[in-house]
Amino acid sequence: MTLREPEGELGEALERAIDEAARLIGASRHVVALVGAGLSAESGVPTFRGPEGLWTKHREPDLRDYERFVEDPKRWWELRQERASRFAELAQALETAVPNPGHFALRDLEEMGRLQHIITQNIDNLHQIAGSQAVTEIHGNRTKLRCVVCNHRWPLEGFPLDELPPKCPDCKSGIVKGDTVMFGEPIPRDALDECISQSRMCDCMLLIGTSAVVYPAAGFPVDVKSSGGTLIEVNPTPTPLTELCEVVIRAPAGETLPLVVQKLRAS
Ligand code: APR
Repeated sequence: MTLREPEGELGEALERAIDEAARLIGASRHVVALVGAGLSAESGVPTFRGPEGLWTKHREPDLRDYERFVEDPKRWWELRQERASRFAELAQALETAVPNPGHFALRDLEEMGRLQHIITQNIDNLHQIAGSQAVTEIHGNRTKLRCVVCNHRWPLEGFPLDELPPKCPDCKSGIVKGDTVMFGEPIPRDALDECISQSRMCDCMLLIGTSAVVYPAAGFPVDVKSSGGTLIEVNPTPTPLTELCEVVIRAPAGETLPLVVQKLRAS
């Protein structure tokens, strides 16, 4: 799909949508971006659903994932150390991925004071690498570890793993696991509380690269809408939330978010 018509102009509808998105963001007090795998697609990280999605190709993990961890955390850690993941494709892509213009556009919006917070479902750490500050990772971060009791987090790098499963050096009672939230695992309370409070303050939410089918994340835009806020969707394909959106940018985020930044800079 090309964004630009043969003469180089953006398709009229797309141009209007980008204009309208910039106007709405500019007129809003507390803008929050809800981000999904689609934002990192242009960084080579596979998405989960849709024709080329990981779950489409390899079957979605079942909800017993976390239960298996709780039953035998030592076994879970041994498998993890053996990198016995059946999603090697994802692991490899995550190892080499770098932020794309979509990530940098969100960083720019934050620096311009036009974006107050990012709620990301992505575990890839690309927002932080791009320089974004106000980020809540509702599904965790692949470069971190977390205590399942006190939610304290540490960088994976350098954390002592001589004893498996590792015990929490802080609360001494919890077991430490990867920070990534597993299927069947409750969302860590601190992250969930921050998402709820940001959604409450939000009067304009950007839905970027998410299929909006996984909860609780997919519920936040509905809360924003029901409290009178506006929604802007950036996604090449429709989602269950499209009909609730004031503006729809039906194109890749990496190609269009920088244009929204340009419009705001020029306004
Ligand atoms: N720009 C914007 N959106 C894109 C792009 C792009 N370049 N490429 C794909 N998309 C869209 C797809 O059309 C789809 O709607 O991104 C969406 C990706 O959807 P999913 O693969 O379902 O990813 P996500 O919504 O993040 O999934 C939520 O599900 O499996 C769990 O933990 C996993 O965090 C993930 C959660």
